[in-house]
Amino acid sequence: MRPSRGGGLGDVRLYDTIDSTNDEARRLSEGGETGPLWVRSLEQTKGRGRRGRTWLGQPGNLFTTGLFTLSCGPAEAANLSFVAALAVAEAIDPFVAQGAVSLKWPNDVLIGGKKTSGILLESWQGPYGFHLAVGIGVNVRTSPDGIDQPITCVTDHVLTGAPQVSAEILFEGLRARFHDWFDIWAKLGFAPIAGAWLARASGVGQPIIVRLPHETLEGRFHGLAPSGALQLEQPDGTIHEVTAGDVFFG
Ligand code: BTN
Repeated sequence: MRPSRGGGLGDVRLYDTIDSTNDEARRLSEGGETGPLWVRSLEQTKGRGRRGRTWLGQPGNLFTTGLFTLSCGPAEAANLSFVAALAVAEAIDPFVAQGAVSLKWPNDVLIGGKKTSGILLESWQGPYGFHLAVGIGVNVRTSPDGIDQPITCVTDHVLTGAPQVSAEILFEGLRARFHDWFDIWAKLGFAPIAGAWLARASGVGQPIIVRLPHETLEGRFHGLAPSGALQLEQPDGTIHEVTAGDVFFG
């Protein structure tokens, strides 16, 4: 049973600086906060990325975490990373060329093929229920150095004549789009989310390399499994489902 999130877009708590908005969401939940609530900070000193990586927290970029208490379990809750990726993409769309924003499994948002946003889901069982933190970082003004993949920021792609972009404007856009997609997910399940995500995904049908912690797989990006796992078509035609890893285009 998927949860309904109650009405409204959720309250917002804005901080000047914080260690990690995901950590703050967890602390708030331990104090009894159940959400929906959005924690946002103008900068982050200990931002975390996927697979133990650091996410740099320069001012001008967007750092936010949505806190939710859900009646489903972790497997279904993981669908919300696709909801978040769609929301970020749609928040960026009005500022950049049509078709410039694409999605990369599991939950990166790219502009012109370069990463501009990452999403980190964390969940835990607390005294008030099962909580999910949907952490979203968007490079709005600057692209951090030292990242092992092509990276960009929204400002570098803003069209002449497009409205001015800022972390705050993108945040309000993504919060609204997130809640719209959340409601679709709560009502209809993962299928419409997967369909919308695949429609703007990079590399579908193309050769890809998937780096896992202890091995590297090669094949064709076939699609998304009902769980959100990446379906990798191997050279012998069998489909291998990958639940975690980094994708590189061949
Ligand atoms: C990734 O590795 O691509 C995911 C990056 C997620 C970064 C965001 S910034 C807001 C939130 N707080 C964190 O510490 N991490 C996430």
